[in-house]
Amino acid sequence: MKITAAIAQGPDQPFAIEDIEIDDPRPNEVLVRLVATGICHTDLFARDIIPRPAVLGHEGAGIVEAVGAEVRKVLPGDHVVLSYGSCGTCPSCDAGAPYYCHHFGAHNMSGARPDGSPTLRRGGEPVFGNFFSQSSFASHALATETNVVKVRKEAPLELLGPLGCGVQTGAGSIMNGLEPLPGEALVIFGAGTVGLSAIMAANLIGCEPIIAVDPVAARREMAISLGAHHGIDPTATDPVAEIKRLTGAGALHALECTGIPSVFEQAVTCLAPRGTCGLIGAPPPGSTACIDLGNLLGKGIRIHGLIEGESQIDAFIPHLVELFQDGLLPIDRISRFYTLDQINEAVADSLEGRTIKPILRMPG
Ligand SMILES: NC(=O)c1ccc[n+]([C@@H]2O[C@H](COP(=O)([O-])OP(=O)(O)OC[C@H]3O[C@@H](n4cnc5c(N)ncnc54)[C@H](O)[C@@H]3O)[C@@H](O)[C@H]2O)c1
Ligand SMILES: [Zn+2]
Ligand SMILES: [Zn+2]
Repeated sequence: MKITAAIAQGPDQPFAIEDIEIDDPRPNEVLVRLVATGICHTDLFARDIIPRPAVLGHEGAGIVEAVGAEVRKVLPGDHVVLSYGSCGTCPSCDAGAPYYCHHFGAHNMSGARPDGSPTLRRGGEPVFGNFFSQSSFASHALATETNVVKVRKEAPLELLGPLGCGVQTGAGSIMNGLEPLPGEALVIFGAGTVGLSAIMAANLIGCEPIIAVDPVAARREMAISLGAHHGIDPTATDPVAEIKRLTGAGALHALECTGIPSVFEQAVTCLAPRGTCGLIGAPPPGSTACIDLGNLLGKGIRIHGLIEGESQIDAFIPHLVELFQDGLLPIDRISRFYTLDQINEAVADSLEGRTIKPILRMPG
């Protein structure tokens, strides 16, 4: 079948809107007509390092158009959010931790199905697809039964795609990962979609103080309007010294949401004894950090890598939808809509800090 897609053409190159071909769904697959797809920083990170041409996009929301013969979870007409793929059978998946699937790369970043077959073609030639088991910068996507999540039809579907990655990563890293208690100090480094979603979750729990570190004034202001008690500009002050001044002993929890190794070092250094640093940001491949091991040892500091907010998508995404519907997770306040053919403008607005969460409305 023909679909319209935004094709990634290489580092810093604009996306091109083209008509390409998508495979028919296999027995475990679901064909989704996308309504809207969020742009996550990880898409831009991937655009610069993966083979091209490629169709990225991993925060899709849409309506099921067709299902393979073995699919039981959804039916045509269902509203769905697409999230990350997993194998369902490895030791992590068996242990209920699909976010650390042993085959995460094959299901999310290999550019094809895990068996190597392409899902997308242009003029008969394979295109890098199946990104996060979806490739949803397109009018349609092929997902699998493991990464589609049915959502209630009363919810505004066009806003929900980011629940499949950025929002669940931030909110889940707090609610499922760090699990801070009310009254505990928490620092968020990087107030993009991920960091701001973490702040919304920490505010619901009642963490105090919540401290947001970001060089962009509008992002610090947004963080404060969503529940942070303090905003720190790391270009104007040493964030570690300021966090210690605000908290006394340091923070019990810190989340690194920038992907910058030196910021991770700050997120570890600002912790109080028994503190935990959650690592979310994706640094360039091969990055290392310099950590004072005596500080780690003497204070019992823990470092917790966090993928996709350690979210069990079938339960957590509908829970996030409920929080949004109840006015407790105001993701509409950080979102801005574009059409698919405005993708390059949306990317520029995101990279320059003007838009927090760009969402692309799909043709048709
Ligand atoms: N672990 C996961 O499962 C997962 C999932 C989604 C995204 N990510 C990664 O998380 C990171 C955040 O994603 P996002 O979509 O929110 O990105 P984003 O670009 O919207 O947000 C990053 C923020 O960091 C801020 N920043 C830049 N330099 C800083 C500094 N020195 N100190 C503090 N803040 C600084 C920026 O101003 C920006 O607001 C990215 O690296 C992304 O690839 C990881
Ligand atoms: Zn697995
Ligand atoms: Zn993402």
